[in-house]
Amino acid sequence: MANESNIFQELISHCKEYGYIFQSSELYDGLSAVYDYGQNGAQLKKNIRDQWWKSMTQLHDNIVGIDAAIFMHPTTWKASGHVDNFSDPMIDNKDSNKRYRVDHLIEGFAEEQKAIGNEQLANDVLSAMDNLLAKNDFAGLKQLIEDNKIKCAISKTANWTEVREFNLMFSTQIGSVAEESDTIYLRPETAQGIFVNFLNVQKTGRMKIPFGIAQTGKAFRNEIVARQFIFRMREFEQMEMQFFVRPGTQMEWYNFWKEERKKWHESMGIPAEKLRFHDHVKLAHYADAALDIEFEFPFGWKELEGIHSRTDFDLKQHQEYSKKKIQYFDNDLNPEGKPFGNYIPYVVETSVGLDRLVLTILSLAYANEKWTKEDGTEDSRVVLRIPAKIAPTKLAILPLVKKDGLPEIARELMEDCKQSFQCFYEEKDAIGKRYRRMDAIGTPFCVTIDHQSKEDNMVTLRYRDTMVQERIPIAEVKKRVLEKIS
Ligand code: GAP
Repeated sequence: MANESNIFQELISHCKEYGYIFQSSELYDGLSAVYDYGQNGAQLKKNIRDQWWKSMTQLHDNIVGIDAAIFMHPTTWKASGHVDNFSDPMIDNKDSNKRYRVDHLIEGFAEEQKAIGNEQLANDVLSAMDNLLAKNDFAGLKQLIEDNKIKCAISKTANWTEVREFNLMFSTQIGSVAEESDTIYLRPETAQGIFVNFLNVQKTGRMKIPFGIAQTGKAFRNEIVARQFIFRMREFEQMEMQFFVRPGTQMEWYNFWKEERKKWHESMGIPAEKLRFHDHVKLAHYADAALDIEFEFPFGWKELEGIHSRTDFDLKQHQEYSKKKIQYFDNDLNPEGKPFGNYIPYVVETSVGLDRLVLTILSLAYANEKWTKEDGTEDSRVVLRIPAKIAPTKLAILPLVKKDGLPEIARELMEDCKQSFQCFYEEKDAIGKRYRRMDAIGTPFCVTIDHQSKEDNMVTLRYRDTMVQERIPIAEVKKRVLEKIS
């Protein structure tokens, strides 16, 4: 575990050094749990988002995509239940003033107990916590913390306040401050933008149930315990799809999407053994079934994506609060030969955090490799083995020297290839150094133009993962890379 945590720290430094992820407003000492994506991180994130969008909309003829606003009418959040229910039980240590999410505090204690061999105690505490959380028994949770003498990591005391709930939504004002202003929220999930547009999309797209609406976009949560780099952020991006189905068929679709989404993660290069399902015991206020697709991050198994059977809760709530009918007329015939008629559709949701996917891909890709060369000397490199189809830069174009007409040939190749995929041109430094830099950025292919290229129109194509080099005609470079990234 110590080694894994070192590797995780190395990955965080690597992300900063190679233009992937920076602390937000680092110039002013940063803002906790908020991050900026640099030139390579932004491109990687876009490539993953594009893959998701394509898999949802282009490859499913019954799913369409929308882009709803972050700001929504405040009643949306009253109807969805977020104003009343979107909160976490928290506890403060009176000596350090540090605030903890109750479940994180107890889980941390259970992990410490496991590490020293008290497996039974750890399991008992965790199952007691699950029961108390399911009943919203705050006094019981405090008692559990006190009975087990769970201490604050900073003050080392067990001097705790009562357990209280804190709403996770950020709020702001709309309209001129001088005039009467209204409190609105920064959306904590993109899903509600889909629900309030259900009728718009269904009618204008003449959509027939079952059908889905997909959306990617920013969401905001005032996470109290924000840690583990981009795993838990206050501003993050979700990729969500709400699939509208006939009531009574929701479990069929829940099982369908559960398998479909796991397959998609595998298609992104995530090994099957690094993914698992975790069924929820405590269901959110809107769900009749829910599970997480978990990934084994360097800090343990954690949620990557949620699959939720949300019943007709959201549409029904919006119908009640807006006082507008939100229904669908199903003219397919039921077993009695009559149309199914009017109903509020049920919903199966798939919801994945884009930032968590970026972290997943990067933690799988990062490798610090050492080997002995044929002459007996040691060599090493740091490489990001990002799957070629989502790597930020696909091809580095490297003239061996910056004279003798080599840059001109390289520029011509660049002009041709950049129409089809992201290229990077570099003529500075020794070629070995340039290869190492491309390995560290995760560029899957490098092409080197040398003096011989002028004679025979052949160039060296180098593969990041194997470091194998081969001579191929310059005219074939684009085709070869396209084959590998498609
Ligand atoms: N619409 C349902 C919904 O929002 P959720 O389980 O709260 O469900 C879905 O969130 C996904 O969003 C999670 O599986 C996770 O990948 C991502 N996510 C949630 N909170 C996050 C945070 N604070 N930082 C980064 N990603 C987060």
